[in-house]
Amino acid sequence: MTASGSAANPVPVITIDGPSGSGKGTVAQILATELGWHFLDSGALYRILAFAAQQRGIPLDDQAKLADLALTLPVTFSTTDAKITLDGVDIKDEIRTETAGNAASQVAVIPSVRSALLARQRAFRIAPGLVADGRDMGTVVFPEAPVKVFLTASAEERARRRYNQLIEKGLDANLPTLVADIAERDQRDTTRTVAPLVPAMDAEIVDTSELDIAQTVTRVRNLIRQRLSM
Ligand code: DC
Repeated sequence: MTASGSAANPVPVITIDGPSGSGKGTVAQILATELGWHFLDSGALYRILAFAAQQRGIPLDDQAKLADLALTLPVTFSTTDAKITLDGVDIKDEIRTETAGNAASQVAVIPSVRSALLARQRAFRIAPGLVADGRDMGTVVFPEAPVKVFLTASAEERARRRYNQLIEKGLDANLPTLVADIAERDQRDTTRTVAPLVPAMDAEIVDTSELDIAQTVTRVRNLIRQRLSM
């Protein structure tokens, strides 16, 4: 038996995929804490990679250099204080900006980068269990996960959530522009050839348009209990 379990008794994984604004990150984190399981924020890996590339002067379309960097990225995730360090420096806040998100989406379309990050993501599967948050957790990274959830919400509702976040931060925001941006990004994400944003065949789809976070957590928790007989 290894840290990732044995063939007969693998460490359980719950995958939570969906577009940004669906609430998946928050829900995944709450459930991981509740269960006392490990948590993988796979989007953070793409963000860190893009950030590290920019720091090192690697263009975001240099596929070979980016794939090399993905294999050797000196990043650590702390389980105790939510710190993410690159080269020993905490960069948790720097990777949350719009610019970092856009840079992440550019490197995320490169197939060699995605495959270079596979082993790194799978290494998070450690007993007693893992909650993995992303776009392709149930389809590509953990296709054998016993519980797969796909959270979604209408483009209008996700735009409204984003609008509220921006206004809360004291930033300018325009709702119709946000709706149009999100609809355009959905189109790109769901039709890209490599790891497109689609629910796994065996994923439970939960539309959160009319649900708050607590209600969404309850729905997903019930599903986990059913599937894992907890
Ligand atoms: O979830 P996020 O906003 O932190 O993701 C940042 C970018 O990384 C986003 O453009 C989509 C991409 N991504 C991906 O392609 N696959 C994942 N499993 C997670 C994120």
